[in-house]
Amino acid sequence: MWRPSVRRKVSGRGAAALAAVLTLGASAATADVLVEEDGVDLIYAYCTACHSEMIVAQQGQTREGWDKLLVWMVDEQGMAEIDEPDRTEVLDYLEAHYNTDRPNFPRR
Ligand code: HEC
Repeated sequence: MWRPSVRRKVSGRGAAALAAVLTLGASAATADVLVEEDGVDLIYAYCTACHSEMIVAQQGQTREGWDKLLVWMVDEQGMAEIDEPDRTEVLDYLEAHYNTDRPNFPRR
């Protein structure tokens, strides 16, 4: 199975550049599914190597649930461990926008 390296650091200039691309490309198919808030660039960077962001947007989890999902993704699905501080930022984002009430469940 093809295993992409998701160890690329997406901080500093890279994150800014990525954020700029996402902002400019707001009409591109991949850039308008997830809520455009702090941390979204990390989700696109870490989570869309193996599957669409739709699979993320369709889930509603508590922070604990997302944490477990990340562990499962590493243990069972071959995802590379996400280093801090990125992991915390990913959880902050997911907890805020994709919690159990699923405030941003995709309608398309
Ligand atoms: C190395 C590949 C890989 C990466 C990177 C990855 N995933 Fe996954 N993920 C998978 C695979 C494979 C499945 C489908 C497993 C299945 O249902 O058989 C999956 C399924 C999921 C699901 C659905 C779980 C369910 O209940 O069916 C969610 C939600 C999810 N991933 C979130 C994420 C998030 C958030 C990230 C980024 C932090 C991420 N994934 C990164 C491989 C990956």
